[in-house]
Amino acid sequence: RRLRRLLSLDDFEPAARRHLPRPVFGYMVAAAETRRSLHANRSAFADYEFLPRVLVDVSGRTQETNLFGQRYASPFGLAPLGLSALSTYRGDLVMAAAAARAGVPMIMSGSSLIPMEQVAAQAPDAWFQAYLPGDEAGIEALIDRVIRAGFRTLVLTVDTQVPPNPENTARMGFSAPLRPSARLAWDGLIRPRWLFGTFLRTLLLHGLPHFENNYATRGAPILSGSVLRDFSERGHLSWRHFAQVRKQWPGKLVLKGVLRVEDACIARDAGADGIIVSNHGGRQLDGAIAPLRMLPDIANACADLPVMLDGGVRRGTDVLKALALGARMVFVGRPFGYAAAIGGEAGVRHAIGLLAKEVSRDMAMLGLRSLEEIRAADILRPCRPAG
Ligand code: FNR
Repeated sequence: RRLRRLLSLDDFEPAARRHLPRPVFGYMVAAAETRRSLHANRSAFADYEFLPRVLVDVSGRTQETNLFGQRYASPFGLAPLGLSALSTYRGDLVMAAAAARAGVPMIMSGSSLIPMEQVAAQAPDAWFQAYLPGDEAGIEALIDRVIRAGFRTLVLTVDTQVPPNPENTARMGFSAPLRPSARLAWDGLIRPRWLFGTFLRTLLLHGLPHFENNYATRGAPILSGSVLRDFSERGHLSWRHFAQVRKQWPGKLVLKGVLRVEDACIARDAGADGIIVSNHGGRQLDGAIAPLRMLPDIANACADLPVMLDGGVRRGTDVLKALALGARMVFVGRPFGYAAAIGGEAGVRHAIGLLAKEVSRDMAMLGLRSLEEIRAADILRPCRPAG
């Protein structure tokens, strides 16, 4: 019943703010420093307007999307979100299950509190996102584990050379490691649905949350100082490490966090199967360009490489704008995380359903019968400056 009042993806944020303790919500909502990139991600979509085509028979339209030899029900998926099990009981499993039932891709975060093997067993089509260890033996061991777990698509996130400025999460009372405090305790106590439904249920059935997949923090409780090690070891990664992974990983390999045309080309030449143009949802380098603004150049330069995008996608119209500018698939981060927190699997299904309905409705109003038509149809142009 509660879910029925959530009518668009933007409705999930205020609902999650009420449902979650402030530090947990603060981690999810956070963006770096001045939040310039966060806002740019949204406003970039507003810089384009549609030129709809009329009197096209769109009654049999479909938003099915083929990617990496797989057919998806919609051209969008769930972006990797770390620490999901803090906001939702068994968060990664919930999101993987919802995505599998809806037929859309879900990328499991390497910064998860659930072992990757459990997610792969329940949702064999889920993709795995890795943060690479600092040394070659560590990389080999991690990739070996991902292979053995049964994943077929691996996403390497490369825009986290160092941890982001913790300023805005600190303002909300969140820290890594998580420090128990009177504030955190009080915040939990006044939110009994989260306290019993997520926190105590997790504690009773699975113990204190642990990092399960990151190389340096594996087995470290979320309260432990070693979570910092994980990040500080990433600064020296280079294309050499990418080449190492490509050699070892037999499945599809995707690079996430690319914003430059030449990096996209290097990735393609080094054997990437796809890239996700992303500024990490405005959470890493404040002022990093909105991915949508780089998408046309990157897609044109890498016509043969599947180019995907995330950051600020909230509407069916956003999905279609990104597709029209060359994306094969887009990913949505925060809203699906909020949806899981508020309503578990049903919440995520509801959010996916809302976005899919928007895509379908918008396709009809644009005169699109299929997503293959979208680039050729020439339905988009940049807004002309007024006056
Ligand atoms: C993220 N993101 C992220 N990315 C990644 O590669 N690994 C990760 O573990 C995480 N963790 C994470 C946690 C939370 C709470 C958020 C909000 C984001 C970035 C994420 O995958 C994606 O790039 C952005 O969230 C997309 O922007 P929107 O849709 O949130 O605007």
